Amino acid sequence: MKSLINQLYDKFLQAILKAYPELLPDADAIPVEVTQSTNDKFGHYQCNTAMKLAKQLKVAPRQVAEHIVHHLDRSNGEGLAMIAHLEIAGPGFINIALDNAFLNHQVNTLVGDPRLGVDKPTHPQKTIVEFSSPNTAKELHVGHLRSTIIGDCLARLLEFQGHDVLRLNHIGDWGTAFGMLIAYMKEQAPKVLSGEHHTDLTQLVAWYKASKMLFDADEAFKQRSRLEVVKLQGGDPDSLHAWEIICDISRKAYQEIYDLLDIKLVERGESFYNPMLAEVVADLEAKGLVQLSDGAKCIFLEGFQNREGDPLPLMVQKSDGGYNYDTTDMAAIRHRCEVEKAERIIYVTDAGQATHFAMIFKAAEKAGYLNPAKNRVDHVTFGLVLGPDGKKFRTRAGETERLIDLLTTAVDRADEILKERSPEIDREDRLALAKALGIGAVKYADLSTHRQGDYTFSYDRMLRFEGNTAAFLMYAYVRVESIKRKVGVDINNLIGKEEIKLEHPSELALALHLLQFHETLDFVSKDLIPNRLTDYLFGLAERFNAFFRDCRVEGSPEQHSRLLLSEVVACTLKQGLSILGIATVERM
Ligand code: ARG
Repeated sequence: MKSLINQLYDKFLQAILKAYPELLPDADAIPVEVTQSTNDKFGHYQCNTAMKLAKQLKVAPRQVAEHIVHHLDRSNGEGLAMIAHLEIAGPGFINIALDNAFLNHQVNTLVGDPRLGVDKPTHPQKTIVEFSSPNTAKELHVGHLRSTIIGDCLARLLEFQGHDVLRLNHIGDWGTAFGMLIAYMKEQAPKVLSGEHHTDLTQLVAWYKASKMLFDADEAFKQRSRLEVVKLQGGDPDSLHAWEIICDISRKAYQEIYDLLDIKLVERGESFYNPMLAEVVADLEAKGLVQLSDGAKCIFLEGFQNREGDPLPLMVQKSDGGYNYDTTDMAAIRHRCEVEKAERIIYVTDAGQATHFAMIFKAAEKAGYLNPAKNRVDHVTFGLVLGPDGKKFRTRAGETERLIDLLTTAVDRADEILKERSPEIDREDRLALAKALGIGAVKYADLSTHRQGDYTFSYDRMLRFEGNTAAFLMYAYVRVESIKRKVGVDINNLIGKEEIKLEHPSELALALHLLQFHETLDFVSKDLIPNRLTDYLFGLAERFNAFFRDCRVEGSPEQHSRLLLSEVVACTLKQGLSILGIATVERM
């Protein structure tokens, strides 16, 4: 079934074409615009096309609006009126109120439908979502946490919609820095490299820092490090083995975090593209895109300048012959388009890399790797994570917080809150709840702020039970479930036999909102702004609470209808939270 907004869109397009058949040859260019009303006073939806068409047609906008309304088919095509009334307001807005009987009919189609009215696409899009992407031998930081949470949510959304999604972790696992670390570990921790001793990422990070200091201070060590780079790049088995051990230690630490977050990723780090780099550079050169600048091979693109106003290069090969971040990203985008045949690629990294990706996309287009008519690429950017002091998030000691500590703190805090709120829950159950709540709170706090802004991290705020928080939504779900339990009727026996009958205005408002789940997912998939979904779910919980305040369920004559309506609420909350990567619990 089409979403409400798309059904209206079709209707308005048809009406416009009937009213102005002269627009038919260029129908695609007609600026049809239907939006949800921001205020119930103005109906449920609004069409703003008349003002735009008026200019084009040189007719007064209200007259255009009247003409459109006159030609509009108000039925749903199945013998029901879809639209109850239309009203022309102000300069030519068309306010649309849907018919109650239509809403009643539509909301019944959601009962017992696990897809909640969202059809799978006839043509699933091959989509790559690249996210998380930490750097080997370094800890994941809060920036990677944002990438991980946002990327996972977008991947879950596109998966639910029915697309073919590949979730890639583009780990920074290759580069000259490994020379230092391997040289250092060969001297200081040979048993780790031989596999006799085990260690963890924290130790690795400490060695990495020490090796860097030594590199800067000791000329002989610098030489040995450079030699290691050459050996590693030349494929020397010992060096490769050492590198693999370093990657393994890092991978284990990352996996611990992904497991805690319940996030799945396919690792395809920078090293994966290593064998392709020389060919990519040769190809770019053959296509005439490369210029030499101080001995380095560079691509200069129109419109990209540095702060001084000089042309900014994409450097695909350094003057010493080495490849870098830019080269790998050119190889990656080519591989994703040509080998993976991705129709859509989404990169989730901080806003600081915006210029880098804009250049990669442009260069890939020029090289013919990417065809904007066939491949959609997006760089999904996000702002900083701030501490309560408004500065970049750090621990008390002033260090960058280890993510694993941050997440376990959230779970511990959730546990304390639950202990106080619900002392009757036994320890084991409470720990499972605390995990769902603590992790859910961290994810929700991130996803519910507009990703392009900075967001202030606060355990206290994210773990509140009131307001736009994970706990509020998880609790709304628990409430619906407990109502269902209390009435003691098996809902499965009602589905298909009983119907929802909307009567009270709170029921109608709730039903309309439930029917808007579909289009909300479409908005997020188009604009890649997850907080539209959190806002939607928050609105859903509020409308459910209003319904429950106004309409008695248990023992009322409308009990069955209201139970079914509650069931659709529960399914929508559960599915919506699941797209955010948040688990629902039955009791809390
Ligand atoms: N490893 C990088 C970092 O930590 C992020 C990689 C982003 N992806 C890419 N294809 N360049 O900043």
